[in-house]
Amino acid sequence: MSPCAVPRRPTGAAAALGLGSLLMLLGPGRACPAGCACTDPHTVDCRDRGLPSVPDPFPLDVRKLLVAGNRIQQIPEDFFIFHGDLVYLDFRNNSLRSLEEGTFSGSAKLAFLDLSYNNLTQLGAGAFRSAGRLVKLSLANNHLAGVHEAAFENLESLQVLELNDNNLRSLNVAALDALPALRTVRLDGNPWLCDCDFAHLFSWIQENASKLPKGEPEGGWKPGLNGEGKELGESSTVWMFGALLLWGL
Ligand SMILES: *[C@@H]1O[C@H](CO)[C@@H](O)[C@H](O)[C@H]1NC(C)=O
Ligand SMILES: *[C@@H]1O[C@H](CO)[C@@H](O)[C@H](O)[C@H]1NC(C)=O
Ligand SMILES: *[C@@H]1O[C@H](CO)[C@@H](O)[C@H](O)[C@H]1NC(C)=O
Repeated sequence: MSPCAVPRRPTGAAAALGLGSLLMLLGPGRACPAGCACTDPHTVDCRDRGLPSVPDPFPLDVRKLLVAGNRIQQIPEDFFIFHGDLVYLDFRNNSLRSLEEGTFSGSAKLAFLDLSYNNLTQLGAGAFRSAGRLVKLSLANNHLAGVHEAAFENLESLQVLELNDNNLRSLNVAALDALPALRTVRLDGNPWLCDCDFAHLFSWIQENASKLPKGEPEGGWKPGLNGEGKELGESSTVWMFGALLLWGL
């Protein structure tokens, strides 16, 4: 460590001490992680580099981190404690299998989070609890089979939620009711089961149809009436038509 680097005034919290020593390590200069592009002072672009983990270290005041198209299996536990300025995180197309509890601690500014095309299978209660400023959350194209009814608690600003193209057979409507600002939700591309949960979800969709994105009804929306939702098409509107058919209406 450089003897002349001055750490931030400690605030008492261990996190702040950690932050202080990392600041010393990084010094005042701006280190762009090897192999990544730092296109402006607040953006780090590490897309499609075959990275096995989040680049470390990278500048602490980065607001936009693009790591799509790598092989990253984990968001480090203390990630947002160090990178609390992140507003935009593109984690699309990686190998995340789970989100550890507390992953989003410190992510108070995060507004855009793309976790699509990962290998997530379950979302637990409060998975995004600390990310209360999220506006858009994409979980599309994972392998989600279970979403806890409290998975989205505290996401008071969330406007866009993408759950399409997963492995969901049911979804407790309470998960969606917890989102007061929700404007658009995508649910298509899941193998919905026509059970009791589905009936609740179905009436939620009927009453909240305006929240589903408008699709293009022409072409290919007719589902196979085999009880499986997988082929129900590209958009939620399309899916809703499919549901109407499945429901026998
Ligand atoms: C995922 O990333 C790999 C590696 O960059 C790329 O070849 C592939 O096309 C990407 N897939 C998607 C669905 O974006
Ligand atoms: C992620 O899922 C894909 C497709 O199911 C699979 O081929 C791949 O091995 C998985 N990767 C990890 C890290 O689990
Ligand atoms: C429509 O959405 C609002 C807000 O999430 C919810 O309070 C209401 O219960 C929904 N309608 C149905 C039928 O579930």
